Order: sequence, then C-alpha cells, then structure tokens
Amino acid sequence: MDDVKKVADTYNQFGDYYHQSRTQTSGRLHNELIDMPATLSLLPDDLSGVNILDAGCGSGIYSVLLAKKKARVTGIDASSKMIEIARKEKPAGLVITYQVGNLYTLDFEKETFDIVLCAYVLENVKDIHEAFTQFNKVLKSGGVCVFSVSHPFRANSVRTKKNGKEIWVMEDYFSSAVRQSDFGHGMIVEKYKRTIQQYADTISATGFIIERILEPQPIEEGKRVDSKGYEKAMRLPQILTMKLKKYS
Ligand SMILES: C[S@@+](CC[C@H](N)C(=O)[O-])C[C@H]1O[C@@H](n2cnc3c(N)ncnc32)[C@H](O)[C@@H]1O
Repeated sequence: MDDVKKVADTYNQFGDYYHQSRTQTSGRLHNELIDMPATLSLLPDDLSGVNILDAGCGSGIYSVLLAKKKARVTGIDASSKMIEIARKEKPAGLVITYQVGNLYTLDFEKETFDIVLCAYVLENVKDIHEAFTQFNKVLKSGGVCVFSVSHPFRANSVRTKKNGKEIWVMEDYFSSAVRQSDFGHGMIVEKYKRTIQQYADTISATGFIIERILEPQPIEEGKRVDSKGYEKAMRLPQILTMKLKKYS
C-alpha cells in the first residue's frame, strides 16, 4: 500500500499541473491523440445503461466522455485532489459518481460492472495481480476490462540520439527496477517496469483472456499538435492497450 500513498501524494501535489498538461500541453499527444482513440475503439459504441468503473479516473476525462455516451459511470482514484478536480470539471447535467479509493480494495458488490476501464494507471501499481483480481471480482460474468500502459519497449529502454533523431536503446528489458517518470515541473512519478509476458501471465492467472492487443500510433492531428513527438511515435511504440474478457 506504500505505492498507493506515494502516488496519491504526488497527484495531490501536482494535480492541477497534471490535468493541464494532460489536456493542453506535453501530455496531449500521448493521452488524447494516442491513448484515448485506441482505448475508446475497444469499447462498444452504444454505452446506454452500461455500468462502467473508471479505475484510476484521475481528473475524470474518460468518465465524462463515457457518461456523455450514456454509460453509468463510477470513477475512483487514490488522489483526493484528482477527485476534487474531476468533480469540478464534470459538466452540469451529467451523472457520474466519483470517489476516493484504490485498486487494491474495490469496495463494490461482486459483479457490479459491465466494463472496467483502467487507462494509464497500472504502472503506478506495485501488485497488479491484486488489481486484476479486484477487477475480476467487480465485473459481471463475461465483463470486459480495457487497460493501457506505457509500452514496455518504451518503459524498459533508455533514450539517446542517433543522427539527430531520438532513438531508444534497450539495455535490460527484463529488469524489474522502478523507473522515475518525469512529467516536468518537478512532477516525478514512480513506475513499475514490466514485460509484456508479465502482463499476459497476470491476466490469465486472474481469470481473464486477452481479446485484443493494440500498439497504437498517433492519430493524424498529432502532426499538428507536436510534430516531433508525432514523428517519434510513428517509429517507436508508446502505448500498449489490451481488451480482456472475464471468463471465470
Ligand atoms: C496518469 S493518471 C491517469 C488518469 C486517467 N485514467 C486518465 O487517463 O486521465 C494516473 C492516475 O492513477 C491514479 N492511481 C495510481 N495508482 C492508483 C491506485 N493504486 N488506486 C487508485 N488510483 C491510482 C493516480 O492518482 C492518477 O490520478
């Protein structure tokens, strides 16, 4: 649980900055133009009445989108600051339940949700076996879990330059060291490095099967928003997204 307190403290301190950069500046390419189109493409178009848990909802950007598609959304996050921002940012008229909570103890009845969405959170979580076990518990039979993380190739490589271009060199793919992810402005988030196999093994050990794997490239708009980042993301995988089905 130390990991939960640590990450909550960081987002409590930098919540406003994170929310801004997530939507407007440096985070926009990764979040809005790579992660979100891919992640949303794995959810059904018609979400009327569908019960969704946005696990690690942050400032509620996904929750709002899903609620606009008529889903019944519950967002939980370990950071009280992020939940405060989510409540403030919620457009009037949309019904979304936000609460402070953590992935290790999802305090809901068994088989409550049709979908668990967990975007860009699991690298913050030390024990993903417990997180997936909790997702399985709160999902209905046949329910779906969609999650995204930094692509393990990216997370396990070091950045360098060759002929003026950013490239990555993979020194030790299998090292399970914690990495420090620098969000700028002094915001450093600790992330647990994992291989693709570690995700896959945990997924099958917790009663899920993998239905789809995406390694999304940015959508066209990325070229205009951040041409350098776009060029890089067309060459090097940034994000790994999976759709899982609960089978037991
Ligand atoms: C990179 S942000 C992503 C937020 C949101 N999913 C989005 O895409 O905008 C990661 C969020 O996960 C939350 N988080 C990290 N570990 C958590 C845990 N164990 N339980 C609940 N929330 C957690 C953080 O507080 C933070 O708000």
